[in-house]
Amino acid sequence: MDISCYPTQMTPGFYASRLSRPGAVLAPMAGYSDAPMRLLAAEQGALWTVSEMISARGLVLGNEGPDLSIGRPYAGEEHRVVQLYGAEPDILAEGSRRALDWFGAAAIDLNMGCPVPKIKGKGGACLLLTPEVAYALLSAMKEAVPVDVSAKIRLGYDRVRAVEVAQGLEAAGAALITVHGRTSVQRYTGQADWEAIAQVAQAVKIPVVGSGDITDLPTLQLRQRSGVDAVMVGRGAVGNPWLFAHAAGRTHTEPDDALRAQAAMRHATLNAGWYGERRGLLQMRKVLPRYFAHRPEWRERLVQYGALDEVRRGLEQLTGTTLDPDQEYLAAPPAPGTYSESRL
Ligand SMILES: Cc1cc2nc3c(=O)[nH]c(=O)nc-3n(C[C@H](O)[C@H](O)[C@H](O)COP(=O)(O)O)c2cc1C
Repeated sequence: MDISCYPTQMTPGFYASRLSRPGAVLAPMAGYSDAPMRLLAAEQGALWTVSEMISARGLVLGNEGPDLSIGRPYAGEEHRVVQLYGAEPDILAEGSRRALDWFGAAAIDLNMGCPVPKIKGKGGACLLLTPEVAYALLSAMKEAVPVDVSAKIRLGYDRVRAVEVAQGLEAAGAALITVHGRTSVQRYTGQADWEAIAQVAQAVKIPVVGSGDITDLPTLQLRQRSGVDAVMVGRGAVGNPWLFAHAAGRTHTEPDDALRAQAAMRHATLNAGWYGERRGLLQMRKVLPRYFAHRPEWRERLVQYGALDEVRRGLEQLTGTTLDPDQEYLAAPPAPGTYSESRL
């Protein structure tokens, strides 16, 4: 893995430098964009990856420390943005410093899109109702850290006002804005509105990343031509890390079942290394069937495995292939690193 550019990540300009090449971004997804998924995306050529959202209050006032599993990088991790949510400038400023010091964030992103009720009133998509609060948060974060600070918004809370919000964030010093093409009240229903995303891209000078409903290569290519600076892939990348290779122009062939089995086995191995075998494989139950979405009849078996040996045997039987434990795709899992280890 190339880590030569690590020191240069500690300066503004991370997004601009990553956007100089083709590719897609791995979306922040609570419960999914963890270290194993980020590693798989990075290996396939993701422009950058974004952590699951992390509570700034938890980092600053809670018991969280550098060991926090959703913040910690894997050894050697690079090009990883840490996303924070919160609603208080001082807390977000200190949270940004800690995200940088503890987790080695390449950039810090402010969550302005989470519609989950428990986040309500504390930040997330509620900031779309009071965007002036978000502008103050963003400038406090920018003051606090010497790296790019960005925000990820939805089109609005209950009405579309993304252009106004994006312009305000730009004026507050945002280096980039990601737009998920739905309002908060829509949650995940309906279709993402890519025309509204394109209007944001036209209205600001900073780069805009578009997010919503990219699940296959034709859609990805269509959205790459929609006027945004890059596209972000979330749900469509679960069990399909090859989308990043497609976006980067590395390959346009779809993986066969043998390759899917190798990648699924690797994901399970990485999960077991990161979380421990028992917990890691429990979490794989929502992921393994996604590697074989075209084989719904396999689903019942794919959600039963409790040990890596069972995963291997099961995948071999289902796909009729042999998974050689000495193969590179089963290489050592990413050690749960610390930031300082990850810079070595
Ligand atoms: C399970 C799940 C968790 C998510 N967690 C976050 C999050 O932590 N922060 C965030 O900004 N967006 C989050 N999102 C939104 C995604 O980043 C993305 O904008 C949205 O899913 C639309 O893109 P997609 O259709 O490619 O998934 C989440 C979405 C899902 C489905």
